Amino acid sequence: MVQKVKSIWIEGELVAWDDAKIHVLTHSLHYGLGAFEGVRAYKRGDGTTAIFRLHDHLDRLFDTCRLVMIEPRFTHDQVAEACQALLRDNAMDEAYLRPVVYVGDGAMGVLAPDNPIRTMIIAWKWGAYLGRDAVELGIRAKISSWARHHVHVSLAKGKIMGQYTNSTMAKREAKMGHYDEAILLDVNGYVAEGSGENLFIVKKGRLITPPLSASILAGITRDTILAIAREEGIPVAEEMISRDQLYLADESFFTGTAAEVTPIREVDDRKIGPGTVGPVTKRLQDRYFGIVKGTDESHPEWLTRL
Ligand SMILES: Cc1ncc(COP(=O)(O)O)c(C=O)c1O
Repeated sequence: MVQKVKSIWIEGELVAWDDAKIHVLTHSLHYGLGAFEGVRAYKRGDGTTAIFRLHDHLDRLFDTCRLVMIEPRFTHDQVAEACQALLRDNAMDEAYLRPVVYVGDGAMGVLAPDNPIRTMIIAWKWGAYLGRDAVELGIRAKISSWARHHVHVSLAKGKIMGQYTNSTMAKREAKMGHYDEAILLDVNGYVAEGSGENLFIVKKGRLITPPLSASILAGITRDTILAIAREEGIPVAEEMISRDQLYLADESFFTGTAAEVTPIREVDDRKIGPGTVGPVTKRLQDRYFGIVKGTDESHPEWLTRL
Protein backbone atom coordinates (compact mmCIF):
# COMPACT_ATOMS: atom_id res chain seq x y z
CA MET A 1 0.00 0.00 0.00
CA VAL A 2 1.18 3.48 -0.81
CA GLN A 3 1.63 5.50 2.38
CA LYS A 4 -0.14 8.79 2.04
CA VAL A 5 1.75 12.05 2.41
CA LYS A 6 0.47 15.58 2.87
CA SER A 7 -0.10 16.81 -0.66
CA ILE A 8 -0.42 16.03 -4.37
CA TRP A 9 0.24 18.56 -7.13
CA ILE A 10 -2.66 18.92 -9.54
CA GLU A 11 -2.94 21.54 -12.25
CA GLY A 12 -0.65 24.03 -10.55
CA GLU A 13 -2.00 23.58 -7.01
CA LEU A 14 -0.82 21.58 -4.02
CA VAL A 15 -3.96 19.75 -2.89
CA ALA A 16 -4.41 17.72 0.32
CA TRP A 17 -3.82 14.00 -0.39
CA ASP A 18 -7.42 13.01 0.44
CA ASP A 19 -8.86 15.78 -1.73
CA ALA A 20 -6.90 14.78 -4.85
CA LYS A 21 -9.81 13.27 -6.79
CA ILE A 22 -10.63 12.96 -10.48
CA HIS A 23 -14.01 12.68 -12.20
CA VAL A 24 -15.31 9.22 -13.16
CA LEU A 25 -15.61 10.43 -16.76
CA THR A 26 -11.86 11.14 -16.97
CA HIS A 27 -11.16 10.09 -20.55
CA SER A 28 -7.77 8.46 -19.82
CA LEU A 29 -9.42 6.19 -17.26
CA HIS A 30 -11.63 4.73 -20.00
CA TYR A 31 -9.32 4.71 -23.02
CA GLY A 32 -5.76 4.81 -21.63
CA LEU A 33 -4.46 7.78 -23.61
CA GLY A 34 -2.04 9.62 -21.40
CA ALA A 35 1.63 9.90 -20.46
CA PHE A 36 3.39 9.19 -17.20
CA GLU A 37 6.86 9.06 -15.70
CA GLY A 38 8.60 7.48 -12.75
CA VAL A 39 11.46 9.44 -11.21
CA ARG A 40 13.42 8.92 -8.00
CA ALA A 41 14.77 11.45 -5.52
CA TYR A 42 17.50 10.10 -3.26
CA LYS A 43 18.92 11.26 0.05
CA ARG A 44 22.66 11.59 -0.45
CA GLY A 45 25.58 10.76 1.78
CA ASP A 46 25.93 14.43 2.84
CA GLY A 47 22.27 14.62 3.94
CA THR A 48 21.06 16.63 0.92
CA THR A 49 18.46 15.39 -1.58
CA ALA A 50 18.77 15.22 -5.36
CA ILE A 51 16.32 14.10 -8.03
CA PHE A 52 18.07 11.74 -10.45
CA ARG A 53 17.96 12.71 -14.14
CA LEU A 54 14.76 14.73 -13.67
CA HIS A 55 15.18 16.63 -16.94
CA ASP A 56 15.69 13.43 -18.94
CA HIS A 57 12.51 12.00 -17.43
CA LEU A 58 10.59 15.17 -18.24
CA ASP A 59 11.96 15.18 -21.80
CA ARG A 60 10.55 11.65 -22.13
CA LEU A 61 7.23 12.76 -20.59
CA PHE A 62 6.90 15.52 -23.17
CA ASP A 63 8.04 13.14 -25.95
CA THR A 64 5.31 10.69 -24.91
CA CYS A 65 2.80 13.56 -25.10
CA ARG A 66 4.04 14.37 -28.61
CA LEU A 67 3.69 10.72 -29.65
CA VAL A 68 0.05 10.61 -28.59
CA MET A 69 -0.64 14.23 -29.58
CA ILE A 70 -1.68 15.72 -26.27
CA GLU A 71 -0.38 19.07 -25.12
CA PRO A 72 0.23 19.74 -21.44
CA ARG A 73 -0.80 23.17 -20.16
CA PHE A 74 2.54 23.38 -18.27
CA THR A 75 6.07 23.68 -19.61
CA HIS A 76 8.96 21.35 -18.89
CA ASP A 77 10.41 23.91 -16.44
CA GLN A 78 7.10 24.36 -14.65
CA VAL A 79 6.73 20.59 -14.16
CA ALA A 80 10.35 20.39 -12.96
CA GLU A 81 9.71 23.17 -10.45
CA ALA A 82 6.45 21.46 -9.37
CA CYS A 83 8.30 18.19 -8.65
CA GLN A 84 10.65 20.05 -6.34
CA ALA A 85 7.84 22.05 -4.70
CA LEU A 86 5.97 18.80 -4.02
CA LEU A 87 8.96 17.21 -2.28
CA ARG A 88 9.50 20.35 -0.19
CA ASP A 89 5.83 20.59 0.77
CA ASN A 90 5.88 16.98 1.94
CA ALA A 91 9.30 17.36 3.62
CA MET A 92 10.46 14.27 1.70
CA ASP A 93 14.17 13.67 1.43
CA GLU A 94 13.60 10.49 -0.62
CA ALA A 95 10.71 9.69 -2.91
CA TYR A 96 9.40 8.15 -6.09
CA LEU A 97 7.75 10.86 -8.21
CA ARG A 98 4.96 10.09 -10.64
CA PRO A 99 4.16 12.94 -13.07
CA VAL A 100 1.06 12.14 -15.16
CA VAL A 101 -0.44 14.00 -18.14
CA TYR A 102 -3.93 12.76 -18.90
CA VAL A 103 -7.09 13.53 -20.82
CA GLY A 104 -9.75 14.91 -18.50
CA ASP A 105 -13.52 14.65 -18.54
CA GLY A 106 -15.79 16.27 -21.11
CA ALA A 107 -16.79 14.27 -24.16
CA MET A 108 -16.82 10.48 -24.24
CA GLY A 109 -15.89 8.23 -27.17
CA VAL A 110 -12.32 7.68 -28.31
CA LEU A 111 -12.00 10.97 -30.23
CA ALA A 112 -12.82 13.64 -27.62
CA PRO A 113 -10.43 16.17 -29.18
CA ASP A 114 -11.35 19.09 -26.91
CA ASN A 115 -11.22 17.45 -23.49
CA PRO A 116 -8.85 19.27 -21.13
CA ILE A 117 -5.31 17.92 -20.84
CA ARG A 118 -4.47 17.77 -17.15
CA THR A 119 -1.22 17.32 -15.26
CA MET A 120 -0.63 15.92 -11.82
CA ILE A 121 2.37 14.77 -9.77
CA ILE A 122 2.26 12.32 -6.90
CA ALA A 123 5.18 11.51 -4.57
CA TRP A 124 5.47 8.52 -2.29
CA LYS A 125 8.09 6.50 -0.48
CA TRP A 126 9.07 3.45 -2.50
CA GLY A 127 11.82 1.08 -1.39
CA ALA A 128 13.47 -1.53 -3.62
CA TYR A 129 10.80 -2.32 -6.28
CA LEU A 130 11.59 -6.04 -6.46
CA GLY A 131 12.65 -6.27 -2.81
CA ARG A 132 15.93 -5.61 -0.97
CA ASP A 133 16.99 -9.25 -1.38
CA ALA A 134 16.44 -8.91 -5.12
CA VAL A 135 19.03 -6.15 -5.40
CA GLU A 136 21.55 -8.13 -3.35
CA LEU A 137 20.92 -11.72 -4.43
CA GLY A 138 19.18 -11.45 -7.79
CA ILE A 139 15.78 -12.60 -8.96
CA ARG A 140 14.14 -15.47 -10.81
CA ALA A 141 12.54 -14.42 -14.09
CA LYS A 142 10.24 -16.19 -16.53
CA ILE A 143 9.85 -15.61 -20.24
CA SER A 144 6.30 -14.41 -20.61
CA SER A 145 3.64 -15.96 -22.80
CA TRP A 146 2.79 -12.34 -23.63
CA ALA A 147 4.82 -10.74 -26.43
CA ARG A 148 5.95 -7.16 -26.15
CA HIS A 149 4.08 -4.61 -28.29
CA HIS A 150 4.87 -4.79 -31.97
CA VAL A 151 6.34 -1.52 -33.20
CA HIS A 152 3.62 -1.34 -35.86
CA VAL A 153 0.89 -1.60 -33.24
CA SER A 154 2.04 0.55 -30.33
CA LEU A 155 4.56 3.26 -29.60
CA ALA A 156 7.11 1.50 -27.44
CA LYS A 157 9.17 4.68 -26.97
CA GLY A 158 6.28 6.28 -25.15
CA LYS A 159 5.41 5.72 -21.54
CA ILE A 160 1.74 5.59 -22.48
CA MET A 161 -0.80 4.57 -19.85
CA GLY A 162 -2.84 2.09 -21.89
CA GLN A 163 0.22 0.19 -23.07
CA TYR A 164 0.80 -1.02 -19.52
CA THR A 165 -1.96 -3.64 -19.65
CA ASN A 166 0.68 -5.70 -21.51
CA SER A 167 3.14 -5.27 -18.63
CA THR A 168 0.49 -5.97 -16.01
CA MET A 169 -0.62 -9.22 -17.64
CA ALA A 170 3.00 -10.38 -17.98
CA LYS A 171 3.89 -9.46 -14.39
CA ARG A 172 0.79 -11.15 -12.96
CA GLU A 173 1.45 -14.29 -14.97
CA ALA A 174 5.06 -14.43 -13.72
CA LYS A 175 4.07 -13.88 -10.08
CA MET A 176 1.28 -16.47 -10.29
CA GLY A 177 3.93 -18.92 -11.50
CA HIS A 178 6.06 -18.02 -8.43
CA TYR A 179 8.69 -16.08 -10.37
CA ASP A 180 9.75 -12.55 -9.45
CA GLU A 181 9.49 -10.86 -12.84
CA ALA A 182 8.53 -11.42 -16.48
CA ILE A 183 10.79 -11.09 -19.50
CA LEU A 184 8.91 -10.21 -22.66
CA LEU A 185 10.11 -11.28 -26.10
CA ASP A 186 9.17 -9.30 -29.18
CA VAL A 187 6.88 -10.88 -31.79
CA ASN A 188 9.95 -12.29 -33.58
CA GLY A 189 11.18 -14.04 -30.45
CA TYR A 190 14.01 -11.67 -29.51
CA VAL A 191 14.38 -10.51 -25.92
CA ALA A 192 12.77 -7.10 -25.43
CA GLU A 193 12.55 -6.14 -21.75
CA GLY A 194 10.92 -6.79 -18.39
CA SER A 195 7.44 -5.60 -17.44
CA GLY A 196 8.95 -2.33 -16.23
CA GLU A 197 12.70 -2.73 -16.76
CA ASN A 198 15.29 -2.91 -19.52
CA LEU A 199 17.46 -6.01 -19.73
CA PHE A 200 21.21 -6.52 -20.07
CA ILE A 201 23.37 -9.61 -20.47
CA VAL A 202 27.12 -10.04 -20.04
CA LYS A 203 28.89 -12.55 -22.27
CA LYS A 204 32.67 -13.03 -22.26
CA GLY A 205 33.16 -9.60 -20.71
CA ARG A 206 30.87 -7.77 -23.20
CA LEU A 207 27.80 -5.93 -21.98
CA ILE A 208 24.86 -6.37 -24.38
CA THR A 209 21.37 -4.84 -24.40
CA PRO A 210 18.72 -4.63 -27.15
CA PRO A 211 18.99 -1.55 -29.41
CA LEU A 212 16.59 1.40 -29.19
CA SER A 213 14.99 0.32 -32.47
CA ALA A 214 13.71 -2.80 -30.67
CA SER A 215 10.33 -2.78 -28.95
CA ILE A 216 11.67 -1.33 -25.70
CA LEU A 217 11.30 1.81 -23.67
CA ALA A 218 14.37 4.05 -23.95
CA GLY A 219 15.17 3.57 -20.28
CA ILE A 220 17.05 6.32 -18.51
CA THR A 221 18.66 3.78 -16.20
CA ARG A 222 19.65 1.80 -19.32
CA ASP A 223 21.34 4.94 -20.64
CA THR A 224 23.01 5.54 -17.27
CA ILE A 225 24.40 1.99 -17.19
CA LEU A 226 25.71 2.26 -20.77
CA ALA A 227 27.49 5.50 -19.83
CA ILE A 228 28.99 4.02 -16.65
CA ALA A 229 30.09 0.85 -18.48
CA ARG A 230 31.91 2.91 -21.11
CA GLU A 231 33.65 4.86 -18.33
CA GLU A 232 34.66 1.57 -16.73
CA GLY A 233 36.16 0.38 -20.01
CA ILE A 234 33.63 -2.44 -20.36
CA PRO A 235 32.92 -3.23 -24.06
CA VAL A 236 29.29 -2.40 -24.80
CA ALA A 237 26.99 -3.52 -27.62
CA GLU A 238 23.38 -2.70 -28.49
CA GLU A 239 22.27 -5.86 -30.30
CA MET A 240 19.27 -8.12 -30.54
CA ILE A 241 19.43 -10.93 -27.97
CA SER A 242 17.87 -14.32 -28.68
CA ARG A 243 16.32 -16.52 -26.02
CA ASP A 244 19.23 -18.98 -26.14
CA GLN A 245 21.76 -16.16 -25.84
CA LEU A 246 19.95 -15.09 -22.68
CA TYR A 247 20.01 -18.63 -21.25
CA LEU A 248 23.73 -18.92 -22.04
CA ALA A 249 24.71 -15.49 -20.69
CA ASP A 250 27.40 -15.27 -18.00
CA GLU A 251 25.39 -12.58 -16.19
CA SER A 252 22.12 -10.72 -16.65
CA PHE A 253 20.37 -7.84 -14.91
CA PHE A 254 17.38 -5.52 -15.14
CA THR A 255 17.56 -1.74 -15.01
CA GLY A 256 14.84 0.77 -14.21
CA THR A 257 14.08 3.77 -12.05
CA ALA A 258 11.92 1.58 -9.80
CA ALA A 259 14.00 -1.63 -10.08
CA GLU A 260 17.33 0.26 -10.10
CA VAL A 261 19.95 -2.40 -10.99
CA THR A 262 18.55 -5.84 -10.15
CA PRO A 263 20.56 -8.97 -11.00
CA ILE A 264 18.75 -11.86 -12.72
CA ARG A 265 20.04 -15.12 -11.30
CA GLU A 266 17.67 -17.49 -13.09
CA VAL A 267 15.57 -17.48 -16.26
CA ASP A 268 13.00 -20.24 -16.87
CA ASP A 269 14.56 -22.34 -14.06
CA ARG A 270 18.01 -22.19 -15.70
CA LYS A 271 20.80 -20.59 -13.72
CA ILE A 272 22.42 -17.61 -15.41
CA GLY A 273 26.17 -18.23 -15.08
CA PRO A 274 26.74 -19.72 -11.62
CA GLY A 275 23.37 -18.33 -10.44
CA THR A 276 24.91 -15.61 -8.29
CA VAL A 277 25.46 -11.88 -8.80
CA GLY A 278 28.20 -11.59 -11.43
CA PRO A 279 31.29 -9.35 -11.14
CA VAL A 280 30.33 -6.98 -13.99
CA THR A 281 26.80 -6.60 -12.62
CA LYS A 282 28.17 -5.89 -9.13
CA ARG A 283 30.62 -3.30 -10.43
CA LEU A 284 27.93 -1.44 -12.39
CA GLN A 285 25.43 -1.74 -9.56
CA ASP A 286 27.91 -0.30 -7.04
CA ARG A 287 28.67 2.65 -9.29
CA TYR A 288 24.97 3.24 -9.97
CA PHE A 289 24.09 3.33 -6.28
CA GLY A 290 27.17 5.46 -5.58
CA ILE A 291 26.03 8.05 -8.13
CA VAL A 292 22.37 8.19 -7.08
CA LYS A 293 23.05 8.06 -3.34
CA GLY A 294 25.97 10.44 -3.33
CA THR A 295 29.13 8.55 -2.48
CA ASP A 296 30.24 9.05 -6.11
CA GLU A 297 30.14 12.69 -7.29
CA SER A 298 31.22 11.96 -10.88
CA HIS A 299 27.96 13.03 -12.58
CA PRO A 300 26.64 16.28 -11.10
CA GLU A 301 24.86 16.98 -14.43
CA TRP A 302 22.44 14.13 -13.65
CA LEU A 303 21.31 15.68 -10.36
CA THR A 304 18.65 18.26 -9.60
CA ARG A 305 19.44 19.27 -6.06
CA LEU A 306 16.59 20.30 -3.81
C1 LIG B 1 8.35 -0.97 -19.91
C2 LIG B 1 9.52 -0.31 -19.24
N1 LIG B 1 10.75 -0.58 -19.65
C3 LIG B 1 11.83 -0.03 -19.08
C4 LIG B 1 11.71 0.85 -18.02
C5 LIG B 1 12.93 1.46 -17.40
O1 LIG B 1 13.00 2.83 -17.72
P1 LIG B 1 13.74 3.85 -16.76
O2 LIG B 1 15.09 3.34 -16.54
O3 LIG B 1 13.73 5.13 -17.52
O4 LIG B 1 12.95 3.93 -15.52
C6 LIG B 1 10.42 1.18 -17.54
C7 LIG B 1 10.26 2.12 -16.44
O5 LIG B 1 9.95 3.24 -16.65
C8 LIG B 1 9.31 0.59 -18.18
O6 LIG B 1 8.08 0.87 -17.76
